[in-house]
Amino acid sequence: MTTLQPGSNKPAALSNASQYLKFMSSACLADAGRLFGCTNYKTGTQTMENTLEVFDRLVRDLLADEAQNPVAEHVPSGKVYERLDLKLQNEGISASELEASLKDLIFTSPRTATNGFFNQLFGGRQDKAILGDLLSVILNNSMATYKAAGPQIAVEKAVLREVCDMISWGPESDGTLAPGGSMTNFMGMLMARDAFNETTRFAGVHQKMTVYTSIESHYSTPKNAAFSGIGRDNVRMIATDTKGRMDNAALRKAIQDDIANGFHPVLINCTAGTTVLGAFDNLVEAAAIAKEFNIWLHVDGAYGGSVLFSDTYRHLVEGVELVDSFTINAHKMLGTPLSCSLIVVKNKKNLHNSFSNDASYLYQTDHDGFNPGKTSIQCGRRNDALKLWALWKSVGTNGLQDIVNTQFDLADTGRDYVRNHPDYTDYSVDDTVAVCFNYKGIPATDLCTALYEHSELLVGYGSFREDTFVRLVTINATNETQDILNFFKTLETFVAENPELLSA
Ligand SMILES: Cc1ncc(COP(=O)(O)O)c(C=O)c1O
Repeated sequence: MTTLQPGSNKPAALSNASQYLKFMSSACLADAGRLFGCTNYKTGTQTMENTLEVFDRLVRDLLADEAQNPVAEHVPSGKVYERLDLKLQNEGISASELEASLKDLIFTSPRTATNGFFNQLFGGRQDKAILGDLLSVILNNSMATYKAAGPQIAVEKAVLREVCDMISWGPESDGTLAPGGSMTNFMGMLMARDAFNETTRFAGVHQKMTVYTSIESHYSTPKNAAFSGIGRDNVRMIATDTKGRMDNAALRKAIQDDIANGFHPVLINCTAGTTVLGAFDNLVEAAAIAKEFNIWLHVDGAYGGSVLFSDTYRHLVEGVELVDSFTINAHKMLGTPLSCSLIVVKNKKNLHNSFSNDASYLYQTDHDGFNPGKTSIQCGRRNDALKLWALWKSVGTNGLQDIVNTQFDLADTGRDYVRNHPDYTDYSVDDTVAVCFNYKGIPATDLCTALYEHSELLVGYGSFREDTFVRLVTINATNETQDILNFFKTLETFVAENPELLSA
């Protein structure tokens, strides 16, 4: 084996760069094999290399099967422990038994990357993002300190800087990543609470604080109000207009009424892409109200915030530079694996004020700018930035724009289909990536559940005002026009073969 020179991490014999790289990669593999080798410590045979081979095999088999069967076998929740061997036991199992077990499990898990999955606000696979995510698993850095994550911190900072620049925010802006939009929205709420009264962080909530969000907004707002001590009862659910956008006149009135009654409004939460309809609140109007009453304005762009990347659809978040904080989920519209949720904030001092805490056992080198644990809601933190960085680096900002625009094009295809076929009733709003409809008057709840139970399609339903409808989300940018048309064809054939649905 090649030996290392004392005090150097470079073997003496290896002078040129390519030789060195070759050496390092083989040395790393060998080390990885030794370090992580014994998945079964009794036999001690399974090296990391073997494990990667198993991974490769499982993934290839899965992808091949997905190509034939876009929807996995439906395993009813009541039967899952009968159908799969999930029981844990004292003794380990052999590598081949484990592989078989894992294969059975992944083959029966819902397939979210195929053209049969339209159920939620994520889907598809962007392979370069997956590459980044897999590498972050291997590296297993914790994104609290530069000491533990090194250049990965700079990767995260580069991503956040670019997003802040796109909003035209200056050097005072910054951001962080947290595990999901509910959590980044939570961070926005905490900053709003503390910006209103910075003693809250120490003394606890001792004022009657209120929060404003539309009735169409995501359930994380009331949930987060409970977590933050503001309280669910102090969330004012503001009415929307006929297109699902927050009624800003009603917002203003609610704030005025609360102030008159001795409450302290601390947060207006706007939504860029409401969960069901995909509506975008008017940020310019909301920002004027926030300024008038000196209230923190957060935008929940978990679903639709990525329109920032599109010259064509950026107008949907017009005024975003006026807000205080903004959530974007790259794991929704940009197609990275779960989870990749960013929150950017106009003034980084708010992040620091709400989230920093000294810990001498953790922060031992470098400075706050490279120790993002000081602006994080977590301690140990997964590297969620690398997947977005790898995708972004690979396709460029123009490629991200294409990913976003494709989803809008697919939604146009869906809406056109619905609007041109008399068996469908359309409930969609324009300029978004959701297509909302009913077919032949079949209750959406029955139709979606039947499609799921028969392993035909995964699609969900939603409600707006009195209507409940199927919600087809075209967020998988790897789909093509034909995939959307096939969706309708599959649905229609299924109904024709199951006429009992029509009489429900
Ligand atoms: C508008 C909106 N905000 C927040 C969230 C929550 O995001 P996450 O699932 O990443 O917690 C969602 C999820 O669908 C959403 O639609």
